[in-house]
Amino acid sequence: MAKLKTQYVCQQCGRTAPKPLGRCPQCGEWNSMIEEVVEARPTSSATVYGQAPVRLDQIETGNDDRLPLGMAEFSRVLGGGVVPGSLVLIGGDPGIGKSTLLLQASTGMAARGPVLYVSGEESVGQIKNRAVRLTDGATPGDRLYLLTETDLGRVIGHIEELHPLLTVIDSIQTMQSADIDSAAGSISQVRECAARLQATAKSSGGAIFLVGHVTKEGAIAGPRVLEHIVDTVLYLEGDSFHSYRLLRSVKNRFGPTSEVGVFEMGSTGLVEVTNPSEAFLAERKADAPGSAIAITMEGTRPLLVEVQGLTSPSAFGYPRRTANGVDNNRLLLLVAVLSRRVGIQLSDQDVFVNVVGGLQVGEPAADLALASAIASSARDRALPSDLALVGEVGLSGELRSVAQLPARLNEASRLGFREVVIPATGRSRVPGPAGLKVSPVASLAEALSLTLRSRG
Ligand code: TYD
Ligand code: MG
Repeated sequence: MAKLKTQYVCQQCGRTAPKPLGRCPQCGEWNSMIEEVVEARPTSSATVYGQAPVRLDQIETGNDDRLPLGMAEFSRVLGGGVVPGSLVLIGGDPGIGKSTLLLQASTGMAARGPVLYVSGEESVGQIKNRAVRLTDGATPGDRLYLLTETDLGRVIGHIEELHPLLTVIDSIQTMQSADIDSAAGSISQVRECAARLQATAKSSGGAIFLVGHVTKEGAIAGPRVLEHIVDTVLYLEGDSFHSYRLLRSVKNRFGPTSEVGVFEMGSTGLVEVTNPSEAFLAERKADAPGSAIAITMEGTRPLLVEVQGLTSPSAFGYPRRTANGVDNNRLLLLVAVLSRRVGIQLSDQDVFVNVVGGLQVGEPAADLALASAIASSARDRALPSDLALVGEVGLSGELRSVAQLPARLNEASRLGFREVVIPATGRSRVPGPAGLKVSPVASLAEALSLTLRSRG
């Protein structure tokens, strides 16, 4: 029988302490240290020196055959498919579509071999109804097994018996290991369950996907504490008012990170958006003041998005600045640069900016388009509809270079844009693709005098 010990774990950040503390020494949260009983593992020299070092050239590697998931965008985010024996965490807000995505991937994968879908949240009947709807009435194959279970030991028993190519655990917060006394969803449970599933994935050779709900505080599944245990971490993002969902990889032991897959939630589940820029620009109104096209990068993929700005006289002495889809501090900075370096007075104006489609744009390369959208609204003059902009705006109003310019220019050209304004720095003198006019400018003021002049 393993020795048990009592420890105190912060429910906010995962910090452990041997004694009860009123306030977490790491994150400073009050009353967040909860008592948990864990197994004390002896670290004997037998476990430390259990395996002898092996020379690199003598190591046999299994061939790293990835299994495509039957959803190209999903496979792409994983680096071409799922690696057998890997443990993948898929995090996201409740209701964003994690179960839907994984059930679709499971039905696709069941064409190749057995798949086990374990839910601690829904009954097998509910899951079947959804599976039938997602596959448009076609039977998802006789090799998709559904299981409602929260006891981890039994789940692992089923994995060892069934040898599934893919197992989905929905969700890790509902799983409970009998070795640990604390409640399902607590940090030590979540951590222990993930560690045992990691061992099971490695020994069985099948891949395991874990669903992790992001809790209110923004930490994943009792958290971020899982990220170092698993091989790959993906987040499904989007907001509930828009149908677009972005699947983003933030850690991947077997492939590139910051790859992004784009989906749209429809009545038959998530549909892949293979041409996201076109989708995001579809509703654009040409020649409207306050609209600009930014060329952002999502991982290695360029994405053209429409950003909008609106200025309107403030009703009360205190002007408001409201950002949707971009960081509010970025908006404040751009407003300050526009008034100090360009001479567009905004101190008596409310300023709103919005990224169309519910996207979040964190990249400074979108600065120029944001600032242009605000200026375009303030001057009530539209930017040319075939113009896209890229560049970071510095505090002196200068334009700073951005990474991966050729990929951005190619995407703009592919979508039929005729002109792109880019920062004029030494490195940026790249010839654009044929038919695309590339206009390097040194400052925001110069960019605006070029783009907001009346065209005749
Ligand atoms: P779900 O996959 O259950 O979210 P999660 O597992 O991340 O909590 O998705 C729930 C939402 O998706 C729900 O609000 C309904 C919507 N949805 C659709 O719009 N179309 C569909 O075909 C399905 C299955 C769900
Ligand atoms: Mg779910």
